[in-house]
Amino acid sequence: MIAELDALQTEALAAIPTASDETSLEALRVQYLGKKGSVTLLGAGMKDVPPDQKKAVGAKLNEVRTAMTDAIVARQLQLQAEKDAKAIEGIDVTLPGRNYGGVGTLHPLTQVRDLAIRTLRRMGFILADGPEIETEWHCFDALNTPPEHPARNEKDTFYLHDGRLLRTHTSSVQIRTMEIAKTLPIRIIAPGAAYRRDEIDATHLSVFNQLEGLYVAENVSLAELKGTLVAFFREIFGAGTAVRFRPHFFPFTEPSLEIDVKLEAKGKDARWIEIAGCGMVDPAVFSEICAKRGDKLFDPEKVTGFAFGMGLERLAMILHGISDIRHLIENDVRFLSQF
Ligand code: PHE
Repeated sequence: MIAELDALQTEALAAIPTASDETSLEALRVQYLGKKGSVTLLGAGMKDVPPDQKKAVGAKLNEVRTAMTDAIVARQLQLQAEKDAKAIEGIDVTLPGRNYGGVGTLHPLTQVRDLAIRTLRRMGFILADGPEIETEWHCFDALNTPPEHPARNEKDTFYLHDGRLLRTHTSSVQIRTMEIAKTLPIRIIAPGAAYRRDEIDATHLSVFNQLEGLYVAENVSLAELKGTLVAFFREIFGAGTAVRFRPHFFPFTEPSLEIDVKLEAKGKDARWIEIAGCGMVDPAVFSEICAKRGDKLFDPEKVTGFAFGMGLERLAMILHGISDIRHLIENDVRFLSQF
């Protein structure tokens, strides 16, 4: 039996390394080690081996099985390696990778907003915010805007069924801030969304962004308002930029002013472009805040303040010469990748 096992081992160890693929290798495994394989069948004859030879024959049987199994595993690994090598044949692993466009850039609106915030923070303003779904009181009444004012019309403002509304301007954050202020001075800016029922066209969206500012203390003057905003717009548009203030009307400021900057569109003469609204906080607003708070922190006899508000889309459009506001919400990469 030992001789038979030796012969099988010699035969198998010669055949296994030449198996050309996994199928023929598996056939060899079955042929020698399968349930009806020749080694298995010989092993079944163990019971007829005389007891004094059992130990030697058993050891030989194990040796042969192990040798064949090892040879099969070795050939399997070889075949797999050959397959892998074939799969990457013709691939030049030294080629540089494909460029998928790289990292993006910040949206031009985000860039302008951040620039405005950076500039005003340097002047001592801190960020504030308030809800986009507002009460009529915060958006209108507290801002000295009477019920008959056109902005309070259903046609101009998105009202909710419960009487609240989508804020039509960020000026409501002035009220939110003064309601909870603990001490003076307060000097805040509030960037954020505003909503109006406007027809959408090249210069109007029904959702847009504003930047609000408010400074309240004792003895805040119109001169400080002008100085702050001239410095601000020169930071945004360039050091020499001409800035002018025109009388205007807002219910919550007195006096009220509109601000123009003088800018040259490419190839055209410089012209004045309206850019923001501002004014000295109307004492009626302070009175309303005092009534709401039940204290005298905003006593209109003692404190004064200035406020300003501007559209951020408009700022971005003027800064970059963008002719249609809708470009800013279309997310067309061909447009956005220019900034
Ligand atoms: N809230 C005004 C608007 O939306 C702008 C403004 C803000 C005017 C603050 C004066 C002071 O048109």
